[in-house]
Amino acid sequence: MAKEAVEDESEFYSKAERYWKAVPATVDGMLGGYGHISSLDIASSRAFLLRFLKEGPTRTGTSLALDCGAGIGRISKRLLLPLFRAVDLVDVTEGFLDQARAFLGEDARRVRNFFCCGLQDFSPEPGAYDLIWIQWVIGHLTDEHLTAFLKRCRQGLRPNGLIVIKDNMAQEGVVLDDVDSSVCRGLDVVLGLVRRAGLRLLAQEQQQGFPDEIYHVHTLAMR
Ligand SMILES: C[S@@+](CC[C@H](N)C(=O)[O-])C[C@H]1O[C@@H](n2cnc3c(N)ncnc32)[C@H](O)[C@@H]1O
Repeated sequence: MAKEAVEDESEFYSKAERYWKAVPATVDGMLGGYGHISSLDIASSRAFLLRFLKEGPTRTGTSLALDCGAGIGRISKRLLLPLFRAVDLVDVTEGFLDQARAFLGEDARRVRNFFCCGLQDFSPEPGAYDLIWIQWVIGHLTDEHLTAFLKRCRQGLRPNGLIVIKDNMAQEGVVLDDVDSSVCRGLDVVLGLVRRAGLRLLAQEQQQGFPDEIYHVHTLAMR
C-alpha cells in the first residue's frame, strides 16, 4: 500500500511540485533523461489505442481526449491530437503547460483547455471525454486519491469512452522514490485500485523494447 510508504501526505505533494518545477520543460525532462524512448513509447501506445477506435458497435469516439499529467504535451502532440478532434491537458506544473502552447505549435488551437491542477483536486467534466489518458503520473497520487480520481474519470467518460493508464510497475509491493516524491506500485496493487474504483479492465499490455534498467511499463485500458 502506498499509504505505508507515504508518511506525510501534504509534504508528499508539495515535494513533488517542487521537484517538477525544477525540471527542464523538454521531452528529456518529461522522461527523466530517457527522451530517446519517446518515439517507441508513442508508437506502442498508438497501436494499443487504435484497436478501440476501429469501426464497430462499441467503437470509442474521437471527439475529445484528456491528457492527465500532460507535462509539455509530449503525448498530446504525437498520440492524441493526431487521432482526436480536440484535447484537454491537465498538469500541476504551470511552466510545463506554458511550454505546451509552444511545443504543440499549430495544433495548440485544438486544445480546448490547459488545466493547471493536481489530479487529486481535478474533476473531469462529466460525460465529456472519449479517452482519458493517464501516463507516468499515478505514482504522484496516494491510493485514496488515485482511486477517487479514477472514479471521477469514470464519470467523465462518454458512451464507449476509455480510460488508459500507462505507467511503471514495481516487481512487487510499493517502492517510494524520495527524489521526485512518488511511489511505484506493483501491477497487482494498481489492478486492485482500478477494481476499487469500480472500473472493468478491457486490455492490458507490457511495453516491449524499453531499456533493461528501467521499471517494467504496463498499459491498461478500462471503463
Ligand atoms: C514523468 S512526467 C510525465 C509527463 C507526460 N505524462 C509524459 O509522459 O510525457 C510527470 C508529470 O506529472 C506532473 N505531475 C506531478 N504530480 C502531479 C499531480 N499531483 N497532478 C498532476 N500532475 C502531476 C508533472 O508536472 C509532470 O508533468
